[in-house]
Amino acid sequence: MLRALTPQDLAGRSVLVSLGPTREYFDAARFWSNPSTGRMGACVAMAAWLRGATVTVVSGPVSWWFPQDVRLLPVTSAAQMYDACLDVWPDSDYGVMAAAVADFSPLPHPGGGKFKKDAASGRPPLEFVPTHDILAAMGGVKRPGQYLIGFCAETDNLYENAKGKLTRKRCDAIIANPIGRSDAGFAAVSNEALALDAGGRQETWGSIPKTEMAMKIWDFSIRS
Ligand code: CTP
Ligand code: CA
Repeated sequence: MLRALTPQDLAGRSVLVSLGPTREYFDAARFWSNPSTGRMGACVAMAAWLRGATVTVVSGPVSWWFPQDVRLLPVTSAAQMYDACLDVWPDSDYGVMAAAVADFSPLPHPGGGKFKKDAASGRPPLEFVPTHDILAAMGGVKRPGQYLIGFCAETDNLYENAKGKLTRKRCDAIIANPIGRSDAGFAAVSNEALALDAGGRQETWGSIPKTEMAMKIWDFSIRS
């Protein structure tokens, strides 16, 4: 019924969306993560489904409800998200990396089990290693005809940072969001963005609900 009210301009297209945070466990009880709720990605996935796409969602540990025919692949860590995304990407027409992937992962506590705080005299023995960049890896194996959309979250120099990531990660479009304010970015209901594409097009979207921004992202991407 809902689909009947929406233009079906993604009919016959397959869309991969990653969303949510990742969790990097360093012992049996503790992890390193970020405050992403997955809301922006969930809105993009729903909008794609409404517009007729076949949708696969690779979801970090958050729970969103999707229509029954949306394929949901739950993951926890950045490494698991990497495997799931790289597995699905070759069969996708669009990839949208809305996930807030942890950039670093703490090395697991060598003893296994739970690290005891008293054993470290108050200083956790944490050592971090970088995770793989999933979006850049997808950009690296992108075929002609596939369209890759990245996000970026920035506290400053939104345009320069977004442009750099668009090029470096071989995206077709990037949606750059300011973070560090209460009315946009992580967990917010509304969002503000600068959309850039590889052809030099750019649009600025004011503070609008993420549901509406998701539709704008598809308008921007399908028509280019
Ligand atoms: N991304 C990814 N894999 C990572 C890190 C980021 O796929 N290990 C993706 C995000 O999903 C997003 C884009 O890359 O679509 C940009 O993420 P962002 O955190 O803004 O940029 P980074 O390249 O991680 O750089 P930094 O956090 O230092 O700004
Ligand atoms: Ca990052």
